[in-house]
Amino acid sequence: MTNRILFVCLGNICRSPTAEGVLRAVAASEFPRLPLYVDSAGTANYHVGEPPDRRTIAAARRRGYDLAALRARQIAPADFSGFDYLLAMDRANLDELARFAPPDARAHVGLFLEFARGLESDEVPDPYYGGTEDFERVLDLCETGARALLRRLSA
Ligand code: 4NP
Repeated sequence: MTNRILFVCLGNICRSPTAEGVLRAVAASEFPRLPLYVDSAGTANYHVGEPPDRRTIAAARRRGYDLAALRARQIAPADFSGFDYLLAMDRANLDELARFAPPDARAHVGLFLEFARGLESDEVPDPYYGGTEDFERVLDLCETGARALLRRLSA
């Protein structure tokens, strides 16, 4: 059965598109037989229709991930039935997600990094007002989180 995964951040232009692209690429090379459907969304509507932030695209490209074709969208109540896992980048967005959840929602709603072990924090910090190192940190955490999630799904 296909594992349907939606990554969620605030704007859907930095963290969740990175998680989406990294999960796809890591799955293709390390878990090629795992059936996956992956998407991302923001809790806010500020950037709907836009590609990822240019700093996000550039940092990802340096590691071989192509995020340029992705477009931002906002989370919708239908996502709670269209996906099996709604995985937020931080607690603020996890709390925000609850506002969009229909009463009969059955999807697993949690933090992306809850599957990873040994990290200092279970949140992916917002890089938007940061520098290059903050975008690199998002990539590091997404690579670790993606491998942990894929191991869980394939177990
Ligand atoms: P994201 O980052 O939630 O990782 O996509 C942000 C993108 C945009 C804004 C904040 C965070 N913003 O304030 O526009």
